[in-house]
Amino acid sequence: MSKKDSAKATLNDLNGKEWVKATKSWFVVNPKPRSAGQANHPAKYPEELVSRFLRFFTKADAWVLDPFAGVGSTLVAAKELGRNAIGVELNGEYVEIGSRHLEKTKGSGRTYLIMGNAHGTLEHLGEIFKDSIPPFSLLMTSPPYWNMLRKSRGGNDSVQKEREASGFDTYYSDSEEDIGNLDDYAEYIDTIGEIFDRLEPILAKNAYLVIVVQNMRDIDGEMKPIAWDLARRLSKTYALRQEMIWCQDNKRLGCWGYPTTYVSNVHHHHCLILQKR
Ligand SMILES: C[S@@+](CC[C@H](N)C(=O)[O-])C[C@H]1O[C@@H](n2cnc3c(N)ncnc32)[C@H](O)[C@@H]1O
Repeated sequence: MSKKDSAKATLNDLNGKEWVKATKSWFVVNPKPRSAGQANHPAKYPEELVSRFLRFFTKADAWVLDPFAGVGSTLVAAKELGRNAIGVELNGEYVEIGSRHLEKTKGSGRTYLIMGNAHGTLEHLGEIFKDSIPPFSLLMTSPPYWNMLRKSRGGNDSVQKEREASGFDTYYSDSEEDIGNLDDYAEYIDTIGEIFDRLEPILAKNAYLVIVVQNMRDIDGEMKPIAWDLARRLSKTYALRQEMIWCQDNKRLGCWGYPTTYVSNVHHHHCLILQKR
C-alpha cells in the first residue's frame, strides 16, 4: 500500500498516544450544566461523550447519523469538531430547542436536525438529499431506554419527582410512535432492531455504530438487560465489536431498598460498538 493510500485508510486523525488512551474500555464523563431549554429533555447525553467517539471513529468532514437525536447533542459535538451530522427526532419541541442551540454553536460542520420517526429516516434523507444521500461513517445515538421514564422510581428525593415539581418533561411524549411508550419489552427490542436494519444500506463501508443504553431494573425488581438484548438483536445485521462503559461519578446516591432489598445506584451506561459487515 502506498503512503497516500495508507493515509486514506486510517480510521481517524489521532496520533498513537491519543489512540491508545482512547481505547480504555471505561471512562468517566460528567455532564456539564445544560442550557434552560436543554434541561427540559429528560435524558440528554453530554457532547463530551459524543466527541470522544467522533474523534476515534471519524475524520474531519465525515458524516454522522443520529436517528434518536433528542436536543441534538450529537450534532452539536459534530459541528464543533468539523464533522457533518444529521439527526432525526420525533418530538418537535426537542427539535426546536436543538436547532436554536445549533445556531449558536461555533464550528464548520454542516448539521440537519429533522423532525420525524427514526423508522422513516431513509425517506427523510431522500427528501433532503434526493439520490445523493451522504455515506455515513458513524451512527452515534442513544434510543429511549425502553419505558424506563414512564416507571416511577424511588422515593421523594428521586430525580423524576424533582423534575416533575420543576415543570420539566419526565418522559419524551405521548406519541404512539415513541419507542419509549412501547410496553412490550420484546417488541421494543425488535422495533429498534428493525430501525437499524433499515439504516444498514446508507452506512459507508466498514462504518461503525455507537449505541448508548443502560440495563434497567423493572418495577418487579427483575433486571431488563437492554444493552445485552440489543447487542444480540443488532448482531443479526452488524458485527458486534466491543463495548465501552461510560461512568458518571457526580450523581447523587439514592437510598433505594434499604434496609431489606439490594437495589444498586446505576451510574454507568453501555456504549455498544458495532460495525457494518
Ligand atoms: C435517550 S433520548 C436521546 C437524547 C439525545 N442523545 C440528546 O442528547 O439529546 C431518546 C430520544 O428518542 C426520541 N424518540 C423516541 N421514539 C422515537 C422515534 N420513533 N423516532 C425518533 N425519535 C424517537 C425521544 O423523543 C428522545 O428524545
